[in-house]
Amino acid sequence: MDASSYLLVILVIILPMAKAQVPGFMNIDCGGTSAHTDDIGLEWTPDSNYPFGQRANTSFVNNNKTQFNTVRFFPTDDRKYCYTLNTTTRLRYLVRATFLYGNFDNTNVYPKFVISLGATNWDMIIIKDAATPVVSEMVVLAPFPSLSICLFNASSGLRFISTIELRQFNGSMYYSYFEDQYFMFMAARVNFGAESNASIRYPDDPFDRIWESDAIKRPNYLVDVAPGTEKISTTKPIYVDHGEMPPVIVMQTAVVGNNGTLTYRMNLQNFPGNAWAFTYLAEIEDLGPNETRQFKVELPWGPPTNDAIVNVQENANGNYRLYEPGFYNVSLPYIASLLFRQTHDSSRGPILNAFEVFKYVAINFGSLEATAMAGLVARNPQAMWAQEGGDPCLPASWSWVQCNSDIQPEIVSIDLSGKNLTGNIPQELSSLTGLVELYLNGNSLIGSVPDFGGLLNLQIIHLENNGLTGSLPSSLGKLPKLKEVYVQNNNLSGVIPKGLLRKNIVFNYSGNLDLHPSQEAKNNLIIVFSTVGGALLVIFCAACYLCKYKKKGRKRGKIGLLPNGQLNLLGDLDTEPAHRFELSEIENATENFEKVIGKGGFGSVYFGKLDDGREIAVKVHNTESNQGIREFINEVTLLSRIHHKHLVKFLGYSQQEGNHMLIYEFMHEGTLTEHLRAPPEKKISSWAKRMDIAEDAAKGIEYLHTGCSPAIIHRDLKSSNILLDMNMRAKVSDFGLSKLMADGSIVSSMIRGTFGYLDPEYYATQQFTVKSDIFGFGVILLELISGYSPISTEHFGDNSQYIVEWARKHIESGNIHAIIDKSLEPTYEIQSVWKITEVALMCVKPRGMERPSISEILKEIQEAILIEQKAATSRVESIDIFARTPPEFAPKLDISNSAFSTESFAQPSLR
Ligand SMILES: *[C@@H]1O[C@H](CO)[C@@H](O)[C@H](O)[C@H]1NC(C)=O
Ligand SMILES: *[C@@H]1O[C@H](CO)[C@@H](O)[C@H](O)[C@H]1NC(C)=O
Ligand SMILES: *[C@@H]1O[C@H](CO)[C@@H](O)[C@H](O)[C@H]1NC(C)=O
Ligand SMILES: *[C@@H]1O[C@H](CO)[C@@H](O)[C@H](O)[C@H]1NC(C)=O
Ligand SMILES: *[C@@H]1O[C@H](CO)[C@@H](O)[C@H](O)[C@H]1NC(C)=O
Ligand SMILES: *[C@@H]1O[C@H](CO)[C@@H](O)[C@H](O)[C@H]1NC(C)=O
Ligand SMILES: *[C@@H]1O[C@H](CO)[C@@H](O)[C@H](O)[C@H]1NC(C)=O
Ligand SMILES: *[C@@H]1O[C@H](CO)[C@@H](O)[C@H](O)[C@H]1NC(C)=O
Repeated sequence: MDASSYLLVILVIILPMAKAQVPGFMNIDCGGTSAHTDDIGLEWTPDSNYPFGQRANTSFVNNNKTQFNTVRFFPTDDRKYCYTLNTTTRLRYLVRATFLYGNFDNTNVYPKFVISLGATNWDMIIIKDAATPVVSEMVVLAPFPSLSICLFNASSGLRFISTIELRQFNGSMYYSYFEDQYFMFMAARVNFGAESNASIRYPDDPFDRIWESDAIKRPNYLVDVAPGTEKISTTKPIYVDHGEMPPVIVMQTAVVGNNGTLTYRMNLQNFPGNAWAFTYLAEIEDLGPNETRQFKVELPWGPPTNDAIVNVQENANGNYRLYEPGFYNVSLPYIASLLFRQTHDSSRGPILNAFEVFKYVAINFGSLEATAMAGLVARNPQAMWAQEGGDPCLPASWSWVQCNSDIQPEIVSIDLSGKNLTGNIPQELSSLTGLVELYLNGNSLIGSVPDFGGLLNLQIIHLENNGLTGSLPSSLGKLPKLKEVYVQNNNLSGVIPKGLLRKNIVFNYSGNLDLHPSQEAKNNLIIVFSTVGGALLVIFCAACYLCKYKKKGRKRGKIGLLPNGQLNLLGDLDTEPAHRFELSEIENATENFEKVIGKGGFGSVYFGKLDDGREIAVKVHNTESNQGIREFINEVTLLSRIHHKHLVKFLGYSQQEGNHMLIYEFMHEGTLTEHLRAPPEKKISSWAKRMDIAEDAAKGIEYLHTGCSPAIIHRDLKSSNILLDMNMRAKVSDFGLSKLMADGSIVSSMIRGTFGYLDPEYYATQQFTVKSDIFGFGVILLELISGYSPISTEHFGDNSQYIVEWARKHIESGNIHAIIDKSLEPTYEIQSVWKITEVALMCVKPRGMERPSISEILKEIQEAILIEQKAATSRVESIDIFARTPPEFAPKLDISNSAFSTESFAQPSLR
């Protein structure tokens, strides 16, 4: 996005409290121009103070509800647009947003976009016709003093909004044991036995809930009604003053199952999931002295239920009184069923006056640094950049912020250049420990440069063209990852911290008052330049080889790369940090090379156990193999510098009497290949497990590609080089073919790699790039999906023979099931498999340029895992949480077992 579009879209959004006629109500008429009162007596306030987006008129004129005559809509961009509403922390609210399209943009393109409540995903808004408002509702315990309603991710049309409504609940209404962790998304609120299609709301419902008539016909909604179901109603008052206080008028109508049963089936929006589900019952018929109305709840296709019997009159202590049986937590499918069955000794059939079903939606409390950033923007109330609202990172980041893709993201970049900042550099910035890039240039900042010593990830900092004074803090020079520092054109003075004059840091400090290197540093610099000379200096830096270390304090190693790309070992092997084992030690450990656990191009691999109990794998170098001594030395030197949780740990080497051995940690579960093509009992049958392995391997490769400088290309990625430990976590192995990639240039060498995994571009160029590894990884992903080996006439047919062609063909015809391993447990989420398949096919694109980076791949894998986890949670959690529910939170009044049943047949996806 360019600077001018920022100006267009960043706008002020703190809402003035609407002057609501009803206490606790707030009604915002989005896009409206003047306050008005609608036909039911609700006062509406236009959102005219919010100068973001644009107003438009819909194609309808409704004199009773002029709030639907206008909308506010937003441009098509990557930003989110948020309305921020003041709330009282820890009060419960109903939050409702409505969307009446009304062809406001004269395109008749029905919009589709996502809304969130703060950082929590709320709903996907899909407009299906121009005239019907789409309504989405949440019940929340306000976690903060304000709530943001954000619109983002338009996948069709323009994002827009018609109204926002806030209703405060009284007392313990809608209390739930889980309210600190979950919002409740309204999926159904039905008034049974309704006398017309009209919904019931304010003023009949003092809290303005919208009770939908059961007479409204919608596809797959309240269908399969049992024969003999009849409406009944009364005009007598109903006592409703407890629980959720459903309106009297709603309770005055009901359905009864005169032939003994009441059944309903309905699609529940956004389910499957965990639900808060309650029925509202009241006896509204005058039963004779010898009459009873008793019924049981049954699960039509589920396990047998217990014998709890509902007797409304008895349970509610009389006629015309509310009784609320239901569940605080029950797992419901997308297609849910309800069955009440009269007991044999009951003279009347079951009754149902109303019910509500909410889906629990886990609250996302936002990014790590939300509080610091809230402080920063709060101190700049007038600035446009400070008004974007919501969380800095979620669900989309502010336009001047970039975040990483962690589940709880951290801010990695802040760009406030040219934003007219005044005063000191905001102190909040020094607390953003994940920050990699900071742009504050071109403002009117004054005062001194704060201590950024805590920003250990900071690489680039732009402070130029401000009015900063004082000296540069020495902590700046000590930041380990710093690459570029710009402080020119300020009023800085004093001695430049030594660390900033390191040769690998770009440092511009011209145009300051009196900022100068110490005398000593100046001399050193001159010496370097005069003796080494520019050209050599460049070569020297290209030869620097650094990997990020997990452990602090480990020395950084250095391997020379000659200008021709060949490896040049600096000094004798013995001086390298790699541990050298005595041959006798290895002979002992392996009981004279007793147990062969593998064979590779390198030679054989033996199992061993060191005296200290560590289990090891010993790779013995076979001089007759294709790989030479150079590879051996290459590997030892490299390996001793590469440490990562998802790379097989190198313990040392042994080199004497013509034997060359590499000693690794022993990986109990062997190779991924074995586990994909194993007999069923050894095969990994869980998709989630396979995803974990993909994630582990991607992390290992990401480290090679991005954690080391220059990058390391594996050059022989394949499933047999992914090893599994006893916990089935994966590590990448076999760096015999790894080569350093000199900055910018590409190392070529003799033909390497394994048929089936080899980058087709390599045939043309004879050069390996990081994208060759990506190709290999894509093939591994296809193996994880299909369980097949990359080359197979048996599975892929004579024509394709090759997993890539085969998978591509099926996916292009939309048939993902054809490539999914039949031996996977069927619990996987198809969306997650789609995601991985799409990534895999990106990875195996013929041209390296078109393939994603390993970090992008990792992100997709993590998203796929998230999809799995969410689904697994909704499958399992209900039982867990319900079991943990203390008795005082059992369903309202005494019922612990009545209410909804679930169907176990196929659950279609959400939409
Ligand atoms: C919303 O809350 C903020 C912070 O407490 C306050 O400054 C502002 O005036 C409030 N807005 C309204 C309209 O009450
Ligand atoms: C919307 O309609 C009103 C009259 O009903 C008109 O005054 C106004 O200009 C219209 N606004 C737009 C953006 O068309
Ligand atoms: C508008 O409200 C009036 C009275 O409140 C009612 O008679 C009329 O039917 C309403 N019109 C519509 C379109 O709802
Ligand atoms: C938003 O859209 C992007 C890309 O289309 C997608 O990856 C992401 O999951 C969407 N987010 C939500 C919350 O739907
Ligand atoms: C909600 O509580 C307030 C204060 O306790 C009371 O004045 C009000 O009448 C209650 N509202 C309803 C609808 O019960
Ligand atoms: C319902 O019951 C009545 C009388 O008990 C009977 O006449 C009628 O056939 C039943 N209807 C159905 C659809 O079972
Ligand atoms: C209940 O009692 C009434 C008379 O009081 C009688 O007419 C009716 O048949 C009885 N019903 C049952 C189910 O016994
Ligand atoms: C910059 O800030 C000054 C003082 O705060 C203000 O007068 C000026 O209009 C601002 N300029 C821009 C472009 O926002």
